[in-house]
Amino acid sequence: MADIWRRLYFTYWILSCCVLVFKNGHCQLSEFSNGKCEPMRVKFCENLPYNETILPNALNENDQDQIALQLDTQYRPLVNIECSDQLIPLLCFVYVPVCTVMAKPIPPCRKICMQAKAGCEKIVNNFGFPWPDVLKCENFPISGLCVGENYTSSSDITTSADQNNSVTPKLPNQPDQTSDVTVLENVQMLIDVGPATVSSIAVDWLTNKLFWLESYPSRVRVSDLDGHNPTTLLSKGLGDAKSMVIDPKEGCLFWLVWVGDLYSRSATIEKLDLKTKKHTVIFNITQDIIPNMGRPVDMAADLKNKRLYWVDARSESIQKIDYHGKNFEVMIKGGKYLREPQSIALFGQHIYWSDRESQSVFKALIGKGGKVETLKTLTASPALEVKVFHQYAQPSAVAPYNVTLIPSSAVSGYKQTFYYRLFSVIFLSMIIRYVYVDVS
Ligand SMILES: *[C@@H]1O[C@H](CO)[C@@H](O)[C@H](O)[C@H]1NC(C)=O
Ligand SMILES: *[C@@H]1O[C@H](CO)[C@@H](O)[C@H](O)[C@H]1NC(C)=O
Ligand SMILES: *[C@@H]1O[C@H](CO)[C@@H](O)[C@H](O)[C@H]1NC(C)=O
Ligand SMILES: *[C@@H]1O[C@H](CO)[C@@H](O)[C@H](O)[C@H]1NC(C)=O
Ligand SMILES: *[C@@H]1O[C@H](CO)[C@@H](O)[C@H](O)[C@H]1NC(C)=O
Repeated sequence: MADIWRRLYFTYWILSCCVLVFKNGHCQLSEFSNGKCEPMRVKFCENLPYNETILPNALNENDQDQIALQLDTQYRPLVNIECSDQLIPLLCFVYVPVCTVMAKPIPPCRKICMQAKAGCEKIVNNFGFPWPDVLKCENFPISGLCVGENYTSSSDITTSADQNNSVTPKLPNQPDQTSDVTVLENVQMLIDVGPATVSSIAVDWLTNKLFWLESYPSRVRVSDLDGHNPTTLLSKGLGDAKSMVIDPKEGCLFWLVWVGDLYSRSATIEKLDLKTKKHTVIFNITQDIIPNMGRPVDMAADLKNKRLYWVDARSESIQKIDYHGKNFEVMIKGGKYLREPQSIALFGQHIYWSDRESQSVFKALIGKGGKVETLKTLTASPALEVKVFHQYAQPSAVAPYNVTLIPSSAVSGYKQTFYYRLFSVIFLSMIIRYVYVDVS
């Protein structure tokens, strides 16, 4: 339940990459020792055209169960991204080498390795990991005695060798990849907020709390991830707040507030320190800084560098400040990429945003003057909310704060009158469509 929460929520656009788990340790290929063949039981490799393996492998591992576990935990997520057809053969030839008449395991050919690396290295690196030492292509022979191209005539290993190594994203449990837009099913109501409107939500993955901004009346509320024990955190001095982001490690919530009427052009960036419960305006977005500025539509936090980025619809730009409201900078301004920006997200080295007019999602390197790339253009519908889902987007730490929820068994603080039920029914039948692309 909580997991679903973190992964799919009110999202028209999902940018996704899979979870990569690599040991950072240095495994060197050891000298081959005399091995023994045994029937292969490693499921990871079951589709390869051999059924016996010679162990110990080049890492001096003997136990197939251990090897199977290792392959599943370390490489399954990468395999699921389908970055290269050669990844599974490469891994299997290294970890559960083919049994041959030779007394020692035969390494994979370098070509297989190069192909797997060409498709997958970038993804691995994007998450801050080096290409694993154990898969270093220099370790494998270019020709001669090696397993690869000419290992068998079986098409399983060889035919896909020269296909494009383009990344076809595929997450486990993801619906149909071929259609442009997928309807999100099984949407559950977590909290019935009655007649109020929820303008933004934020999940704290450290303390498993759900925060949200309610309008009319304006307040910041919090509950358990399953929606229980809804508790009001702040109800005074809150304007037309939207786009809340959390940095749980810092124990801070940030949001945007539009000041004045539709035609006014100022806004504020505000902060609630969850440790002290102190609410402050950290930045005034006004015309003095940049002409036409003042309609920030969405904000995202760079947890690593402690920066807030937002897209401004009036000035058609992306701007940033630090958590204290200092070091203001315009990152990208105008151009065809920011005609009607909707949403912004950060992951790794990149910033992503959606634009309604061009129906596209763009990406650029974080920093000034980064080159903008179009990540995806939709044909039928506008690109709205952009979200990145990845475990590294939720780094672990110890939360520096505690919020105390007021116990209540009810999911809602409101009476379940017919009127309120009607709201929930409307909500439940809302169609949520999304598309996802790999961000690597
Ligand atoms: C492996 O495959 C060969 C030929 O496909 C077959 O003759 C042999 O019985 C299989 N061995 C095992 C242990 O399944
Ligand atoms: C594989 O076999 C083909 C034809 O049998 C040959 O031309 C090619 O050089 C071989 N490749 C390797 C890497 O041995
Ligand atoms: C392979 O990549 C090239 C260039 O990136 C592209 O033009 C071609 O359509 C791709 N082929 C396939 C089968 O995806
Ligand atoms: C924002 O503007 C208000 C009113 O003009 C002012 O009182 C406040 O000090 C400003 N805050 C910052 C962080 O500039
Ligand atoms: C929060 O509460 C937990 C459990 O009561 C406690 O272990 C932890 O130290 C508290 N953290 C802070 C920052 O007060």
